[in-house]
Amino acid sequence: MRKPILLSLLAIAFVVAQAQTVPSIVGAGKAIDPYHYTIVKKADYSKASVSSAHPLASQVGAAIMKAGGNAFDAAVATQLALAVVYPAAGNIGGGGFLLARKPNGELIGIDYREAAPEKATRDMYLDKNGNVSPTLSLAGHLASGIPGTVAGLFATMTYAKLPFRQLVQPAIDLAEKGFVITEREASSLNGTREAFLKNSTRPTALVKEGKWKAGDTMVQKELGATLKRMQKDGASGFYGGETAKLIVEEMQRGNGIIGLDDLKNYTAKLRIPLQFEYRGHQVISFAPPSSGGLLIAQMLKMIEKYPVGSYGFQSPKAVQLMIEAERRAYADRAEFMGDPDFFKVPVKTLMSEAYAAERMADYNPDKAGVSSSIKAGQIKESEQTTHLSVMDAAGNMVSVTTTLNGGYGSRTVVGGAGFLMNNEMDDFSAKPGVPNMYGAYGGEANAIVPGKRMLSSMTPTLLLKNNKPYVVVGTPGGTTIPTSVYQAIVNLVDFNMNADDAINKPKFHHQWLPDEVAVERDFNAETKKQLQSMGYKITERGGIGRTEAIRVLSNGKKETVADKRGDDSVAGF
Ligand code: GLY
Repeated sequence: MRKPILLSLLAIAFVVAQAQTVPSIVGAGKAIDPYHYTIVKKADYSKASVSSAHPLASQVGAAIMKAGGNAFDAAVATQLALAVVYPAAGNIGGGGFLLARKPNGELIGIDYREAAPEKATRDMYLDKNGNVSPTLSLAGHLASGIPGTVAGLFATMTYAKLPFRQLVQPAIDLAEKGFVITEREASSLNGTREAFLKNSTRPTALVKEGKWKAGDTMVQKELGATLKRMQKDGASGFYGGETAKLIVEEMQRGNGIIGLDDLKNYTAKLRIPLQFEYRGHQVISFAPPSSGGLLIAQMLKMIEKYPVGSYGFQSPKAVQLMIEAERRAYADRAEFMGDPDFFKVPVKTLMSEAYAAERMADYNPDKAGVSSSIKAGQIKESEQTTHLSVMDAAGNMVSVTTTLNGGYGSRTVVGGAGFLMNNEMDDFSAKPGVPNMYGAYGGEANAIVPGKRMLSSMTPTLLLKNNKPYVVVGTPGGTTIPTSVYQAIVNLVDFNMNADDAINKPKFHHQWLPDEVAVERDFNAETKKQLQSMGYKITERGGIGRTEAIRVLSNGKKETVADKRGDDSVAGF
């Protein structure tokens, strides 16, 4: 008799605990005021800090740590808040990677990348003539992979201290009570209005009558209800029950292929992080199915034997060397990188010093290399992703990059559930071996297979100095992600910059094909001229990445910086 009584009491206690309401920290006059907030680009904090793409999301993460949570709690709460206040890339309908180091040195890599649905086929984006459709993998229902973010959040809970119901409450409040949008958000939502209307089958809170303007309050009741189902039922509040039903109904209305079993069977996976040395620093980054960690390892190893610091920051000599490393690493990307559960990725070789030396054997410091004489690869990613960096007082370092792929993903809002689905299927090679619409070639390694995860460039990264926490860094930016992280590391290590300069100085990017160097508009004009005279084709473009970084200073404070290129903002204490 005793056991059933005990079990019943435990069950009652569980129900009571679940039903317990969490006091709200969001609202006018509360710790987080969603109607009045400011962007803070940098600050040094003594204990704990967050840098993310939105001031309210960073504030949520900091408040959670102030309330006794650790950096994992903050990472979960910040991601959930971003899903509400930063719909362009924050998400529960997308996927991502979390990389962390605990104070005891334990490394954690959680892969919650989206996966191809069971009904996906290798040729699903080809027309009857075998040509790649220019839109099917980019917008609408067929563009989505099975979302991984919610599984990733619950996998992260293993390392958290606070209950999930407390971590999700700020996001629920932000969705239900609303928050004031910025000029940048208003303009981005207005620019996507037609795409939302075209690709969604039900009205959505992202579209209002007339145009959005800065200062408008955005309320997302359906998203709030979805988050509440997760608060009540955990991961099955998303991958099962009402939410799963709404996702599948949405798919059926738009000829999508994600089914109930796809959702039920999705799991986050633990991946062993990549580790290597760069000039006395220990670099830790994400393993495949991201290409990011491998790319930064390759690029840094290729330049390590040259005294880059003595060349001068963005001198023609330094930039030319760095470009040639970028060209070679990116050429390897398609041939050798994909989901390691489906394709054998030669990780050890790609990261080895011997291989780096071999790749640079034909490097000529006076002349531009030629991509057509280097092995083929596949480059085809959009740039709208988001990153958050977190550190707590105990020394937990958490670096998370998460994505819908393109801005606002597939632009399909799940009817009745209020969140956007990703268009991550576009990160697969739609037609291996044939040039894509950018003139690049796809690789077998990244061909579509049901259950497979598409190759990513996301590069959440950690740096240790003397085996002690030094830097947490990462960025959005599609294929520019690894080059941004690579340049941030070189700026910190070779040019002794502070974190602010390391992420905000002008950037350049070469990705093998197209054979050109993209530079930001404020890139050094003299260096540009000299590179041109060596034979480089240079194109100017808008901002590259939106990097968020935390650097531990010698006095123990955390220099926390948010990229100047967006509304990105820091918070801490
Ligand atoms: N969709 C961007 C990436 O995963 O690299």
